[in-house]
Amino acid sequence: MSLEPIFQDKTYLREQQYSDSRNLDARAALHRDFSASPVDWQTWVFTQLGLEPDTAVLECGCGPGWLWRQNLGRIPANCAITLTDLSPGMVAEAQAALAEAESALTGSGITFQAREANIEALPFADDSFDVVVANHMLYHVPHLDSALAEIRRVLKPNGRLLAATNGDNHMRELKDLAQNIVGEAVPYTWPQLAFRLENGRDLLAPYFEDVSVVLFADGLAVTAVAPLMAYLRSMTLFSILQTDDMARQVAALEQHIADTITAQGAYHIQKETGLFKARNGRV
Ligand SMILES: C[S@@+](CC[C@H](N)C(=O)[O-])C[C@H]1O[C@@H](n2cnc3c(N)ncnc32)[C@H](O)[C@@H]1O
Repeated sequence: MSLEPIFQDKTYLREQQYSDSRNLDARAALHRDFSASPVDWQTWVFTQLGLEPDTAVLECGCGPGWLWRQNLGRIPANCAITLTDLSPGMVAEAQAALAEAESALTGSGITFQAREANIEALPFADDSFDVVVANHMLYHVPHLDSALAEIRRVLKPNGRLLAATNGDNHMRELKDLAQNIVGEAVPYTWPQLAFRLENGRDLLAPYFEDVSVVLFADGLAVTAVAPLMAYLRSMTLFSILQTDDMARQVAALEQHIADTITAQGAYHIQKETGLFKARNGRV
């Protein structure tokens, strides 16, 4: 069994995995509560954007809009932020939260708008944005060439793309754990992300200039079973896995995690995540 097709299946993404923010919430909670880094991911990404006043920003695959909700007080004056996502549920959550935020920012000139859009066919005119953000989403896009061409088209000349993704070893221990347990029931190989730290530079280079990458140094020391189980349950692998033996496997998994935490004080999980930066060289 391979999850590769479903990982990029728009119906699955829109109607199941990302129909609302619940799955993302379970994963974000694990990172928030057990990360070694004193700075959380969305704060770090926001700093990397290096936004200046009067900037037009497009975020593709915005989810519930956390990047902006968690950095509200840091957005420079007169920035126009456009958020887009494939999932209407995510757009609705982002819209509701940011409408509230916008009223709290009255007088700053900062505006938000959110709408449904597929990154492979962006509903915006050429040269519309100074900055495009794609935060942990390009690996879900089956026609990556169309998406990158669209980003370049809507970016102004010299506009910047910031694209976050993971490396092959991201959450390696957790993937091994899931694979071992599930592998008893179904032959399974963990899919490589289509857009990942290892190949992102080569994929971006035909479309953009000055491609570089910055890594986010972090790791998890998880000291409670329930948040780790919630993370596992939020994953595509577990949500689609329907075997008669599922309850036994889940119980075995829980026991193994509890035993490891007792023996070692924590369940240690490495992270390998970062952000590509690139410039639109089109004139
Ligand atoms: C892993 S989540 C990341 C959400 C958000 N960027 C964050 O970091 O919290 C991926 C998001 O990309 C969206 N997505 C997937 N394929 C997409 C596409 N082709 N066009 C636009 N959004 C897409 C999903 O609906 C989901 O909200």
